[in-house]
Amino acid sequence: MKKFPSRRKSDSRVAGPLRHEAHTGGVAGVVGMGLMGTSISACLLLAGHRLYCVESDPAKLRTASKRLLKLLKDAQVQGVVNASPSTLIKRVTISSEFVGLKAAEIVIESTVEDLPIKRQVIGEIERVVSSNTLIGSNTSAIPVTDLQKNSKHPERIIGLHWAEPAHITRFMEIICGKETSLANARRAVRFARRWGKEPSLLRRDIRGFITNRIMYAMLREAFYLVDSGFASVADIDRSMRNDLGYWITFAGPFRFMDVTGIPAYAAVMKDLLPDLSCATEVPRLMQKVVRSGARGISNAKGFYRYTPTQAKRWEELFMEFSYQIRELAEKYPEDVGDRRSSTRKANK
Ligand SMILES: NC(=O)c1ccc[n+]([C@@H]2O[C@H](COP(=O)([O-])OP(=O)(O)OC[C@H]3O[C@@H](n4cnc5c(N)ncnc54)[C@H](O)[C@@H]3O)[C@@H](O)[C@H]2O)c1
Repeated sequence: MKKFPSRRKSDSRVAGPLRHEAHTGGVAGVVGMGLMGTSISACLLLAGHRLYCVESDPAKLRTASKRLLKLLKDAQVQGVVNASPSTLIKRVTISSEFVGLKAAEIVIESTVEDLPIKRQVIGEIERVVSSNTLIGSNTSAIPVTDLQKNSKHPERIIGLHWAEPAHITRFMEIICGKETSLANARRAVRFARRWGKEPSLLRRDIRGFITNRIMYAMLREAFYLVDSGFASVADIDRSMRNDLGYWITFAGPFRFMDVTGIPAYAAVMKDLLPDLSCATEVPRLMQKVVRSGARGISNAKGFYRYTPTQAKRWEELFMEFSYQIRELAEKYPEDVGDRRSSTRKANK
């Protein structure tokens, strides 16, 4: 991967916690070395953990170390970490056995989005770790309370919702199930900060958490517009990139309303909300695309057509973009406006 221009290391506006610092110690575990488990592992290594990973699929197990090393090398090229990838990769053991997780202070489950499988994996983790080990599940939408059922120590089970690529994005939702203790939620927040995240804490469990509830409401409307013939897939993508995509890394929806004037939004809501889709079925277009075998760029077949070369290029570009947006976001942490005005006052 090419290095992108201008990482200004001396820029005092760059938020410290987002940069990966070299910490020492602390064993962490990851179960499931798929797409996300691999980038989560990269994040944990970059944050200084020693790591034990579990993968049940022999083919994935064989390639896991190579995939992880590639992410670490890219991170080095981008100047995100000083330690060498070959040193970092020596701090990982990847295996099909759970027993090596026993020394972990935190284990992250990142297997498939399937309640029985996740419950079974949590059971396997609990069999080997100490009662104090925090168990975080990287579920997208399964309620954490459901994951806690029949567990030995439900108070230490918590939702840790990461965004891909997990070693670059600063997103993290930390979700308490009904039985998660607040002390463990606070521990999770401390871990998240150490991993370079800006975590959000959900004290009560709700299906889909924050971003997936909002994103799926948006997806439902996008499909409604296509399925009803109002706009094409490409037109919707173009509009969203250039409107929402332009401001959403700078400000969340509430800050954005503050910045752009609140009353107009109330006026629009009055007429628009009754008009929005409330469909509960999987949209027609989505059903058709899934039936066709499309998986997206991973098999070069999606809402758009790709040659294998184009699909690969989209994958690489997404990774490049992720580093660039991270660098931009570092200049605009959530309290950037407050900080700058207080700096000005202090200088007067
Ligand atoms: N892909 C994303 O962008 C994204 C974002 C947020 C959350 N998530 C959630 O993260 C989880 C993983 O998603 P993914 O995209 O990495 O999936 P994936 O299919 O790429 O990876 C899952 C991995 O878990 C392994 N696995 C399955 N059962 C196992 C077991 N019993 N023991 C050990 N390993 C096992 C599989 O072999 C596979 O390698 C899902 O719950 C998903 O909903 C994904």
